[in-house]
Amino acid sequence: MSGFMTSSIGKKVVMSISGLFLICFLLVHLTLNLFLIFDDSGDLFNMGAHFMATNPAIKIMEPVLALGFIVHMIWAAVLTLQNMKARPISYKVSRQSGNCSWASRNMFILGGTVLIFLVLHIFNFYWKIKVSGSPLLAEVSVGGVEMENTYNLVSTLFKSSIVYSLLYMVGAIFLGLHLTHGFWSAFQSIGFSNDLWRKRLTVVAYFFAIVIGAGFSIIPLYFMIKF
Ligand code: HEM
Repeated sequence: MSGFMTSSIGKKVVMSISGLFLICFLLVHLTLNLFLIFDDSGDLFNMGAHFMATNPAIKIMEPVLALGFIVHMIWAAVLTLQNMKARPISYKVSRQSGNCSWASRNMFILGGTVLIFLVLHIFNFYWKIKVSGSPLLAEVSVGGVEMENTYNLVSTLFKSSIVYSLLYMVGAIFLGLHLTHGFWSAFQSIGFSNDLWRKRLTVVAYFFAIVIGAGFSIIPLYFMIKF
């Protein structure tokens, strides 16, 4: 088993499974975040955030999610280093002229940029909610239940800083670009590799990447324009 995990195909499968898991997380995260723009009172988003913070199943998933990110990043670094060692520069040049997309040639850079965004993002919200606290989180009552005002924390950041809003939009666009290749590549590595599936998955990958890129961008944009 450990031999498979460290083999070339094994590493790709680990990248795929962890990537598909992260894709599921992104869908849930985006759905919840869109509550931010559907209800300006903040009640809807606060209820969603409160549910996520108190649900035992979600609490169990938190370390699994962290592990998913860590495995995905470490395996990406190992695969990239191996590829760089194994392939002379001339191969890189020949790939550029082939039919590989720009995103597929720059997955490590795109992933690295998303990681920089993620560190900033965790500090902005997760850290304040779980560790340091913030006066912006002062409790509110929604439907008779007391909960942290997560809506206030998130919306204040976007309303008060154009720089942060733009950084979030750039982060979302880089994530979308990463997914244009990552999505279908994940399926290809676990066996959907014939011509028909390749074409289908390329279309679905672009659609999904646009939903994620535009979906996450629209939130800071909404606060920038409306408030
Ligand atoms: C407009 C865009 C986004 C908003 C408003 C947003 C909001 C939030 C908030 C409020 C939290 C803290 C949740 C809590 O602990 O209760 C959080 C956590 C997190 N976000 Fe985002 N997020 C955005 C985009 C993203 C993107 C693009 C990614 C992935 C690259 C991402 C990945 C994460 C992760 C890994 C966590 C920590 C795990 C968790 O608490 O669920 N977020 N986000």
